[in-house]
Amino acid sequence: MTGATARQVPVPPEAGLAVPARPHWGAMAALSHAFAFGVAAPIYSFVTAHETWRASCRALGALVPGPRVLDLGVGTGTSALEMARGGGKLHLGLDRSAEMLRRAARAARAEGASLPLVRADGMALPVRDGALDGVTGHSFLYLLPDPAAALAEVRRVLRPGGRVAFLEPRAGRPALRDAFAGGPRCAASMLLWRGMSRLHARFHEAGLAALLARAGLRGARAWPVLGGHGVMATAERPE
Ligand SMILES: C[S@@+](CC[C@H](N)C(=O)[O-])C[C@H]1O[C@@H](n2cnc3c(N)ncnc32)[C@H](O)[C@@H]1O
Repeated sequence: MTGATARQVPVPPEAGLAVPARPHWGAMAALSHAFAFGVAAPIYSFVTAHETWRASCRALGALVPGPRVLDLGVGTGTSALEMARGGGKLHLGLDRSAEMLRRAARAARAEGASLPLVRADGMALPVRDGALDGVTGHSFLYLLPDPAAALAEVRRVLRPGGRVAFLEPRAGRPALRDAFAGGPRCAASMLLWRGMSRLHARFHEAGLAALLARAGLRGARAWPVLGGHGVMATAERPE
């Protein structure tokens, strides 16, 4: 499995954006979303508890400056807690699922870590303009009905010079053997991710970078990670 140092892809001006799921899968997508991040939260926690997932979270966190970083879709807390291991930044977690936030709070307590959490919709951030140095999202944008609108919100809450970093499911057909290289749990998490993203959306490098650029963020770039199962992207709010 590869980390954040993989090949970077320039953004063509006319790049497509997300590769959406088929429209008639909408109800299935809503159901799977409610299930995976509600009653099935323990399963989600179990399959993402492996070093490959954690390392991808740390790589994401390293892309944004501090001290104030908001992690969108913090889920069970893995992404924010792993990013916080870099030290020196205050990570805040946001999610709309009460069950996932309960688990994040428990995980933070177990580690003795400080992780302020807020329950809110990522489409309308309860944060004042320009208040943040960094915004991250690991497996977040692909679940949204309108990622472009969410990114406009992200731009609003970033200070000039602040930076975003996202890691999302990648469009295309990655080799399954790469997922198995990280062990059985890694394979399970990639399969779950493939299934969920089949129902929601996936991104090409160029599409994800173009989404960031169209939200008014500068220097957008994106590259494949997690053996081609994921795409990581970063960009900056202009001064
Ligand atoms: C796949 S989990 C990612 C969890 C975590 N970032 C990680 O890496 O393990 C996605 C999270 O996004 C949350 N989410 C989805 N749509 C959301 C929205 N519109 N606003 C806030 N959170 C949302 C879900 O509740 C879920 O906890």
